[in-house]
Amino acid sequence: MSDAVEFGGVPLDRSARIYVAGHRGLVGSAIWRKLEAEGFTDIVGRTSSELDLKDRGAVFEFFRETKPRYVVLAAAKVGGILANNTYPVDFLTDNLQIQVNVMDAALEQRVERLLFLGSSCIYPKFAPQPIHEDSLMTGHLEETNDAYAVAKIAGIYQVQAVRRQYGLPWISAMPTNLYGPGDNFSPQGSHVLPALIRRYDEAASSGAPSVTNWGTGSPRREFLHVDDMASACLHLLDHYDGPEQVNVGTGTDVTIKEIAETIAKVAGFEGETEWDTSKPDGTPQKLLDVSRLTEAGWTAQIGLEDGLRSTVKWYREHIDALRV
Ligand SMILES: NC(=O)c1ccc[n+]([C@@H]2O[C@H](COP(=O)([O-])OP(=O)(O)OC[C@H]3O[C@@H](n4cnc5c(N)ncnc54)[C@H](OP(=O)(O)O)[C@@H]3O)[C@@H](O)[C@H]2O)c1
Repeated sequence: MSDAVEFGGVPLDRSARIYVAGHRGLVGSAIWRKLEAEGFTDIVGRTSSELDLKDRGAVFEFFRETKPRYVVLAAAKVGGILANNTYPVDFLTDNLQIQVNVMDAALEQRVERLLFLGSSCIYPKFAPQPIHEDSLMTGHLEETNDAYAVAKIAGIYQVQAVRRQYGLPWISAMPTNLYGPGDNFSPQGSHVLPALIRRYDEAASSGAPSVTNWGTGSPRREFLHVDDMASACLHLLDHYDGPEQVNVGTGTDVTIKEIAETIAKVAGFEGETEWDTSKPDGTPQKLLDVSRLTEAGWTAQIGLEDGLRSTVKWYREHIDALRV
């Protein structure tokens, strides 16, 4: 596989209709905000109750009526380890149906640019770190989210197949762990960072003397603010035109302990943090190689502490209206 970044994407026409699938989610809402800020004047979205993307007939009807020129596919069934591990059928079939329906209907309308969003869990469990795009399909997946990962890998191949068979310049992006306003903070569904925010915020407000987290705190993880993610997505749509998926991250990682300490600080928690080392740690490191994205001319702008501060503020302001 080639290492060369393929430039030459024609910047999107800001007055053309763009459909953001999943526009109320963490990623979709950030993309919507970014598009508005960049002067897009015809942004279209539907909630899942208005348009169930698993309903193939309804999706085709929507595309025939709406005729978007561009599509960002940020709708998906998303969850943490527990949900992925408990409901693998849902994560496989819901995601396959959503993405196949949207991409088939977009193809029928010859949508000019489509961005498919996957996830870093598409890469093999033991991929060399930092993980380069070329690691795709070189080893076994992490078992706890393999069903979700297989659906996402199928999405990358569908984008590549459309490019090959129809010559449409569709692309895929694979973000690292994301966080920010609009995240899922529910105890059942959340990822590590929103779960820590919730835990430290509750401890700070109840005056608890200590917080206990799972594991040793030594695994290293990468976190990207979702507004940076949205900025990267638009940059890729404007400037990247290649068949290979592009990793989206900061290029640096931190230990879970460091992230917990920073969240404790910004949440105003003054007690002790304890680590339950009888609980598993997970993979020691997960960091994306972002050289392809850097070559394409984009780097992250939002520092972790600043990003966490604004996310904790958002969480507190929206605590009564969070999703369950
Ligand atoms: N969060 C992360 O850390 C992360 C990391 C890497 C990649 N990603 C990727 O980014 C994408 C978006 O993730 P996210 O974190 O923004 O997820 P999210 O906050 O859970 O949002 C997903 C959105 O998808 C919509 N959706 C789900 N099922 C649907 C259906 N059957 N019909 C119509 N809409 C449906 C939901 O719409 P309603 O709100 O209207 O129900 C929801 O707003 C996913 O592809 C995910 O793999 C996320």
